Amino acid sequence: MHLVSLGILLALSALCSSLDNGLVRTPPMGWMTWERYRCNIDCKTDPEDCIGEHLIKSIADKMADSGWRELGYVYISIDDCWSLKHRDSNGRLQPDPDRFPSGIKALADYLHARGLKLGIYGDMGTYTCGGYPGTTLDTIKIDAETFASWEVDMLKFDGCYSNSSDKALGYPKMSAALNATGRPILYSCSWPAYEGGLPPKVNYTLLGSICNMWRNFDDIEDSWASVLSIIEWFAVNQDALQPAAGPGRWNDPDMLITGDFGLSYEQSKSQLAIWAILAAPLIMSNDLRTISQDAKNLLQNRLLIYINQDSLGKQGKRVAKAGSLEVWTRELVNEQYAVAVLNKGTDGLPKHFTTNLALLNITECTFGYKLYDVFDEEFLGTVKSEEPFVVTIAPTGVVLLFVHPASTKHHPV
Ligand code: GLA
Repeated sequence: MHLVSLGILLALSALCSSLDNGLVRTPPMGWMTWERYRCNIDCKTDPEDCIGEHLIKSIADKMADSGWRELGYVYISIDDCWSLKHRDSNGRLQPDPDRFPSGIKALADYLHARGLKLGIYGDMGTYTCGGYPGTTLDTIKIDAETFASWEVDMLKFDGCYSNSSDKALGYPKMSAALNATGRPILYSCSWPAYEGGLPPKVNYTLLGSICNMWRNFDDIEDSWASVLSIIEWFAVNQDALQPAAGPGRWNDPDMLITGDFGLSYEQSKSQLAIWAILAAPLIMSNDLRTISQDAKNLLQNRLLIYINQDSLGKQGKRVAKAGSLEVWTRELVNEQYAVAVLNKGTDGLPKHFTTNLALLNITECTFGYKLYDVFDEEFLGTVKSEEPFVVTIAPTGVVLLFVHPASTKHHPV
């Protein structure tokens, strides 16, 4: 073969070796241990809430019998602190047998039998962030094969205890190793979060071809301040981040904390609305066994999920800011839109905000648009693009509107 065409062929095959597992054409939904359960390995004094198969199975039971699974919440993911502190005699990672007496494969079987999927955690580095064995360049293959042999469906690959050049080699290498197992495994990469989350240090085109989702920024904590700092970072950097997202490749602003201790009801709505606009993975970290009805209703809001799961897969943006108010919009399929008006104010008085759709760049439709309040589950009326309307937003709360052409009769769910 001519040398030039051989070169082209090699370049093409390098491109084709990128992640093409067909997974998560819409953002993944599920549950993960970390934010709520951390590295709690004390099953003697805390048997219900320690990282182990009992916790995972009891959450799986709830996911399967309390309406979560049907809405799309199917991934249940074990974060850090699941393994022993040493590999087995064959060099494989092994779960702590006191906390996972049946092993990970049996746990995957338990979830699969209930229509759910199992996620696991690894770390590109010498140790995980919690000090458990990490995955180095020479153990990537065996770890990918171990996870596949356990029939795991998702890998969160963290980045503690490695330098930038090891990460630059390791993240693509793990992608290829997962692909080579033949098992479709959702690949969640924490890589960008370790490199500041922004170009030119972070190459989002490359990430989109090797990972299904990625953490861009800081860990979420159980507080409104934490949620606000994440929202602000995603807004300020949206021009770099927004094009990176699309079917099969999502920015991940981190877990949902609705149902935990730190957010008020209004603040929970705000996190959910912005995560829906951002086309973010909806991965809860909470206790589905004891969650309040209010929190459950928010997380199970069908129109919210419809917006998040929109098939266009286009991440939304902050489009306006005025005092404590911000407006976020997301374009959806079939000339539908989501509009969130967030009130970051804390002065106690709900704010009235007057706007029109044309100001938000929603103009195409001749017969106007229907407006629907997602959380109040209320039809607000039909408006022409330039016709003003008013929304009232509670302090630290949000109004999330679903906007669809007046020519379509009903909202879709
Ligand atoms: C890092 C990650 C978290 C979690 C912990 C586990 O901080 O960003 O999401 O996985 O490690 O130790």
